[in-house]
Amino acid sequence: MAAGDPIAEVDSVRVRFLGKKGEVSRLLKQMGKLPPDERPKVGQAANTVRDAIETAVRQALDNARDEALRRELAGPPIDVTLPGRPLDVGPRHPVSRTWDEVVDVFRKMGFEAASGPEIEGDFYNFEALNIPPEHPARDMQDTFYLNSGRPAPAMTTEGGEGPDPGDVLLRTHTSPVQVRAMLRQAPPVRIICPGKVYRRDSDPTHTPMFHQIEGLWVDRNVTMADLKGTLQLFAKAFFGTKAQVRFRPSYFQFTEPSAEVDVSCSICGGSGTAAGASARSTVEPESCKTCSGTGWLEILGAGMVDPAVFEAVNYDPEIWSGFAFGMGIDRVAMLKYQIDDLRMLFENDARFLEQFP
Ligand code: DAH
Repeated sequence: MAAGDPIAEVDSVRVRFLGKKGEVSRLLKQMGKLPPDERPKVGQAANTVRDAIETAVRQALDNARDEALRRELAGPPIDVTLPGRPLDVGPRHPVSRTWDEVVDVFRKMGFEAASGPEIEGDFYNFEALNIPPEHPARDMQDTFYLNSGRPAPAMTTEGGEGPDPGDVLLRTHTSPVQVRAMLRQAPPVRIICPGKVYRRDSDPTHTPMFHQIEGLWVDRNVTMADLKGTLQLFAKAFFGTKAQVRFRPSYFQFTEPSAEVDVSCSICGGSGTAAGASARSTVEPESCKTCSGTGWLEILGAGMVDPAVFEAVNYDPEIWSGFAFGMGIDRVAMLKYQIDDLRMLFENDARFLEQFP
């Protein structure tokens, strides 16, 4: 027993009387030797004694603890200047890093971060983006419909109730955040919206859940040149000053004109040939696997906001113009960190994650 430790002292009393080999147990063990008619009386007395000791011990322990606390509080204060011992929390996931890095680049260009629900209404995910029911564009974005009986998250706008959200589904892209942002506020709008999206896809290059970042800039006289300049600046800030961007004509329901945007391949430097292949070699140089020898990698879809989208959110397309883009976060993470299998991003294998210190 530690001398002077009141809590230990009380405990030794408890063991002495109430422990397995304590006085009370000893007494109870001897009961068998008593004449039967005396046993109940002695048993009752022993129980009363045990209860009394238990109560006294509990009380003494409470007092001892209170006393210890009082003494600690009266003593010298804890030295808060002692250096901490941080936990080793491990590296950040490449998707989270890319997410933050992309948002950061656009924040510096004046874009504000925005978000929306992953469980969306048909109106926001499709209809307001000029994709009516039965439109073939829906086939490319088949999703999971949730027949929960609960309505999709509606929204309130400055004018009151928002539009009827329609069927409940998992959003297939981050584009519905554009719709919500424009319903919520009057122009100008300049937002960047990262988030999870879902599609009924699962193969080596598609996972049912993946990440996108949506951008939207609406103001007077926003042009395609602004879109190009913004994305060029992004590519250089994110991939390095040598990065080039290339626009290819494309089609999206919610932009007109639309483009698909490629960035020069960061693995082969845009040459299309595998690293180490010499230009002077007489044999045909091996082509870069990452970009399949093209020197370019597709990273996003973009375009000028279609007037039909402006009409759906009560913006006057005669006054306002804007550009939008949707980028695959997982895709740019793979390019930046040279990851060759998309599925590794979602397997949570520590051996993979530890490679990104
Ligand atoms: N939402 C499109 C998709 O997931 C990507 C996209 C294309 C977004 C063009 C845009 C855009 O904002 O303007 O396939």
